[in-house]
Amino acid sequence: MNIVDQLYARRPVEALVFDSEASFETLRDQLLEIKKINAYYVKKVLKRIIDLSLYADDTDWIYDEYVTLLNVTDKDQYSRIDSIRYFFKRRKNNSDTQYEYDDNANEKISVDIYEKPNLISASGTTGFRTWEASLFLCEYILQNEALFKDQNVLELGCGTGICSILLQKVQSPKRIYVTDGDSELVTNQLVRNFELNKISRNNNSNIILQRLWWNEDKIPNDIDIVIGADITFDASLFDSLCQCLLECLTYCPICLISATIRNQDTTDSFISTTKKLGMNIEEIARTDKLESTALLAPVVIYKISKTNR
Ligand SMILES: C[S@@+](CC[C@H](N)C(=O)[O-])C[C@H]1O[C@@H](n2cnc3c(N)ncnc32)[C@H](O)[C@@H]1O
Repeated sequence: MNIVDQLYARRPVEALVFDSEASFETLRDQLLEIKKINAYYVKKVLKRIIDLSLYADDTDWIYDEYVTLLNVTDKDQYSRIDSIRYFFKRRKNNSDTQYEYDDNANEKISVDIYEKPNLISASGTTGFRTWEASLFLCEYILQNEALFKDQNVLELGCGTGICSILLQKVQSPKRIYVTDGDSELVTNQLVRNFELNKISRNNNSNIILQRLWWNEDKIPNDIDIVIGADITFDASLFDSLCQCLLECLTYCPICLISATIRNQDTTDSFISTTKKLGMNIEEIARTDKLESTALLAPVVIYKISKTNR
């Protein structure tokens, strides 16, 4: 990844690799752009450049800029909204264990997301940042694009909307319902994230952003497939979530749920609740079977269906 992409991705400064291909001017322009939204990150990048004695011909600008940022601290890290670019690549094959990227697929797939990256929960929702389960679901979507072709897709608990945005970018399903239980998140953050990715939603758009509180709000009856990422984090929600999945299965054959395994008891409880309601649940992908992955916690994708198929 070149340095500009690394900066867009907000890669931790200790891990930044400064390539010689990017000119200082390119780097400088990028830093000035990021400074508008995340001055603290720029301060840390400049400090790293100084520590590594890079760009020796341009130290005046680097030092001057660093000095102007000396007073910037990360005290507002929990409320700061940043714009993060996530990069995805197609894998070479569809194997469960191979994670080799297809370097010949030179098309760079990226999704930009406004989010509060340091936030775990606010205003009663965990949807203001992107969670690892959604990154794995994005990878899965890329490897299985055909599943979504000409389909009506429903995403539950979409949070920042990253999975639906990626899906719209690579496959453009017939219709996509992008939903979350938090109406403020839907009307503000979700709308902004679609705009940030230049995905237009006019009146005839196939993209429908709406509030859908599990087992309370109406499920669209024309859906073909359901997706959801990191919506299995709280066992007290399983009854309503699983009732909602059961209702979805009266309209469509499968739900694909990507779950981070933080606690085996919670995972077991999700599995047993689906079974209790007469649904089949099958593990179809998991990160800890892969030869290598950048994701930290194990993530599993479950295929949930009504009858054995
Ligand atoms: C951990 S976040 C995951 C967000 C996103 N899918 C991701 O992986 O980045 C869980 C999401 O589920 C939503 N949620 C929680 N309870 C819900 C409910 N009862 N009905 C609908 N959405 C709910 C939250 O608002 C939040 O956006």
